[in-house]
Amino acid sequence: MGDFQLSNGCFEVKSTFGNYLVDFSSHKEFLDNTNHAKTILVIDKTIYKSYQSSFTNFLQKNILVIDSSEKSKSFEYATTILNELLKKKIKKDYTLIAIGGGTLQDLTAFTASIIYRGIKWNFIPTTLLAQCDSCIGSKTSINFQSYKNVLGNFYPPKKVIIDVEFLESLPSSEIKSGIGEMIHYFYFEKNIFLKEIFANYDKLVTRKK
Ligand SMILES: NC(=O)c1ccc[n+]([C@@H]2O[C@H](COP(=O)([O-])OP(=O)(O)OC[C@H]3O[C@@H](n4cnc5c(N)ncnc54)[C@H](O)[C@@H]3O)[C@@H](O)[C@H]2O)c1
Repeated sequence: MGDFQLSNGCFEVKSTFGNYLVDFSSHKEFLDNTNHAKTILVIDKTIYKSYQSSFTNFLQKNILVIDSSEKSKSFEYATTILNELLKKKIKKDYTLIAIGGGTLQDLTAFTASIIYRGIKWNFIPTTLLAQCDSCIGSKTSINFQSYKNVLGNFYPPKKVIIDVEFLESLPSSEIKSGIGEMIHYFYFEKNIFLKEIFANYDKLVTRKK
């Protein structure tokens, strides 16, 4: 991975594997402005249930709902996704939009990297961990047999849309998990936000204002 550049309030990540933009904006606006006919949304089941109104403009044939869990982040399940995408008559000029946490990200990015020798994908991260950590770095990792994250490659999205609205429905356990990731970066960078996190930890976890 390369360096970061700021443009119009967005991060541009300069990566050896391809540059991409990290945009802090509304997922609804982004989805409204996509080419619906050539896009397949790959959505975490929990997100699909809780944010259904965001996806009503898409036809069912352009939506794939995934029950994402560590168990489903497997080579076998990736082949199930490939099968579903082919049944949906996906073509090389289609784009996948992954909407979910790090698990859904890994599965979708891996799938996007191998179908038709690689198609475009975008990412809308919905967990704190995915918004603050995994959406940067271009890694795709899936589990194989009893080994975690042993299969994968580097395959960056074209765009990452970070919409903090998703954090409102996130359970405290997942907020804690994301804060853990943030702390390890802040600790080594001696970042000023580290003190703020420690001082406001309870409020952050319960999201009380
Ligand atoms: N590719 C990378 O660079 C990278 C980096 C770090 C971690 N990871 C991987 O990420 C995975 C963990 O991802 P994660 O911590 O984002 O969790 P996750 O994607 O497994 O999601 C955790 C749970 O939260 C639910 N969820 C997601 N968004 C929600 C929301 N907005 N509201 C309510 N519920 C929501 C999901 O349905 C799931 O049940 C691990 O498999 C790890 O290996 C990948």
